[in-house]
Amino acid sequence: MQLPFPIAEAPDDHMREAGRLLFAGETDFVKGVVAMAGLPDADRPEVCFAGRSNVGKSTLINALTGRKGLARASNTPGRTQEINFFTAGDSHYIVDLPGYGFANAPIAVVEKWQRLLRAYLAGRQTLRRAFVLVDARHGAKAVDEEIMSLLDRAAVTFQCVMTKTDKVKKDDLDSAMEITRAALAKHPAAYPEIIMTSSEKGEGIETLRAIIAGID
Ligand code: GTP
Ligand code: MG
Repeated sequence: MQLPFPIAEAPDDHMREAGRLLFAGETDFVKGVVAMAGLPDADRPEVCFAGRSNVGKSTLINALTGRKGLARASNTPGRTQEINFFTAGDSHYIVDLPGYGFANAPIAVVEKWQRLLRAYLAGRQTLRRAFVLVDARHGAKAVDEEIMSLLDRAAVTFQCVMTKTDKVKKDDLDSAMEITRAALAKHPAAYPEIIMTSSEKGEGIETLRAIIAGID
C-alpha cells in the first residue's frame, strides 16, 4: 500500500533541466518587506518558504540558487525578520519568510510579524505554493500545524519539505515522518507529496528546483 504523502520522486530529465535553467538564470535579492505596502509588483508566480526558526529556510534558498550568501543563514534563531524577496531568473519570485516559534522574542514583535504573515499569505494573488519546512529530526510540531491551519484558511497550497536529513538516523526519521504525515493528513491545503532535503549534502535540491520550475 502506498503511504499517504509519499516522498517526491526525482524529476525526469526534462523537468530536471527546466529546474536547472530556472536557477541558472539571474538570482538576486530584490528587497526585504516589513509591510504589505512594500511588496513588489505581483507580476509573476511566487513561492514562499515557511518554517520554524532555524529549520533551514535561508540555507535551502542558498542551496537552490547556488549562492551561499544570498539569503542570510545563521546560527542565531530569528535572524530573518523581514519577508525577503529573491528572483529566480526573470520568471519567479522566491520568498524567504521570517521563522516562527522562536522563544525570547518580545510579544509585540511576534504579533506584528504574525499580522504581516497572515496578510501576506491570505492576500498575495500570485503566491502559488508555500513550502513548509520541517526538521527531519523531529517532524511537524504544534507551531508547524498553526502555520498549516493558516494556509488552509488562506487556501494556499502548501508542500512539506523535510530539512537536515543528513542529521537524522533512520529510526528517528521513520518516526518523524509518521508524525509529519499524521499532521499533514489534517490539513486540506497540504499538497500530497513530501520533499526530502539536505542543503548540506545537496539531497532534494534538483527535485525542488524542478518542482518550482513546474509552477506557473
Ligand atoms: P530563521 O531565519 O531564523 O528563521 O532560520 P532559517 O530557517 O532561515 O535557518 P538557517 O537557514 O539560518 O539555518 C539554521 C542553521 O541550520 C544553520 O546553522 C545552517 O547551517 C543549519 N542547516 C541548514 N540546513 C542544513 C542542512 O541541510 N544540514 C545541516 N547539517 N545543517 C543545516
Ligand atoms: Mg532565515
